[in-house]
Amino acid sequence: MKPKSGKSITFLPDDKIVLVSHQDETVLNVAIRAGLPIDHTCGGFGTCGTCVVFVRAGLENLPPRNEIEAEMAQDRGFLKEERLCCQIPPVDGLVLERP
Ligand code: FES
Repeated sequence: MKPKSGKSITFLPDDKIVLVSHQDETVLNVAIRAGLPIDHTCGGFGTCGTCVVFVRAGLENLPPRNEIEAEMAQDRGFLKEERLCCQIPPVDGLVLERP
């Protein structure tokens, strides 16, 4: 169930809704703060690819890939809904699935 106010992100398969408290943090920070078991081997620098998630809703509200993410997406042949959660902002209403 979606909270009545505030921005939130839903993580699957946990079905966990996490409130966004800082607009300047990344989705990875939001997930870590919520205690979700999301891999982030490089520490959020966009070089390992272990934090990849599938965007199940809200893809149209995300900004285009930054240079770091675009390079990895091209190298690894990401689908358009595969995004690095260390490189994307916490846009309200995102539904993200961990692989
Ligand atoms: S944590 Fe390494 S690419 Fe996101």
